[in-house]
Amino acid sequence: MLPDIKGLVDRATDEIASCSSREQLEAIRIKYVGKKGELTALLRSMGELAAEDRPKFGQAVNVAKDDIEGRLAVKSDAIVLAEREKQFISQAVDITLPGRVRKIGNLHPITKGFEEICDIFVRMGFSVVEGPEVETDFYNFTALNTPPFHPARDVQDTFYITDNILLRTHTSPQQARQMEKQDPPVKVVVPGRVYRRDQVDATHSPVFHQLEGLYVDKGVTFAHLKGALEAFIKAFYGEDKRVRFRPHYFPFTEPSAEMDVSCFACGGKGCRICKGEGWIEILGSGMVHPNVLSTAGYDPEVYSGFAFGMGIDRIVSLKYGVDDLRLYFENDVRFLEAF
Ligand code: DAH
Repeated sequence: MLPDIKGLVDRATDEIASCSSREQLEAIRIKYVGKKGELTALLRSMGELAAEDRPKFGQAVNVAKDDIEGRLAVKSDAIVLAEREKQFISQAVDITLPGRVRKIGNLHPITKGFEEICDIFVRMGFSVVEGPEVETDFYNFTALNTPPFHPARDVQDTFYITDNILLRTHTSPQQARQMEKQDPPVKVVVPGRVYRRDQVDATHSPVFHQLEGLYVDKGVTFAHLKGALEAFIKAFYGEDKRVRFRPHYFPFTEPSAEMDVSCFACGGKGCRICKGEGWIEILGSGMVHPNVLSTAGYDPEVYSGFAFGMGIDRIVSLKYGVDDLRLYFENDVRFLEAF
């Protein structure tokens, strides 16, 4: 009796049809057409057949083998396709979903204020430079015409680190440093953090921010000072603002002046914000003192210059209507996001 080749092919066909994974399919291949598979075993058993039956039988086994291998190949393609489809579905992006809102940080209002203000001065030809916050007594005071025992030192409650080293009380020391570093003309603004001993309240902080300005060249006059500062105020606060200069005293300038800007709230009529004055003080300024120029090695007979220093916290507060300095340091995100 000839072995049941047709039955074997039927079984293989059924198993292939119901198989759903690569692994199962591989097991089926090994079982039927592998080296030790059922079909191979049949071929091996050919010797037991009558000689006249052998060719027909061998041919039948080969046809069965081709048949099974063909079905395996078709199934294998189908499994690969199905896997790919499953992968595509699981990775599909639903383009109808609303986007995720990402939280983007923003600059601190003081940083923004510095950037805006520096931009305005850069447009007028100033460069932006910075200086050390830990400063020597010499640059913070002496080089600025404020020698030891000068009463003006008392006005600035200073954090001393040693007798000679301190936290700078203003950005003015960079005036002396800058002139020492380069020949005239010098035309710089200096943004930075400064320190004075103070109790924290709505208008005082031991850490605050200043922007210094210095322009030294041949023939610089008080008219240049007024022109530059008035142009700055109009660019920063608006064309409708007016400025006025009041005589004042600073050791490092002569003559010296404080500059006021017309009140933001009342436009100059006088109100609660400007305490009835119509004006708000905004910065200190003056013509660089000859002693400051000569200490830095500039000849005051040849060169003249103007300087100014403004409190950035106050300048930014006035622009945005911030009435408590502490807000800048508390890092309350609701406040910081408002800018
Ligand atoms: N350094 C002064 C202060 O902190 C401000 C100042 C006044 C700076 C007049 C200047 C200036 O450059 O010319 O109070």
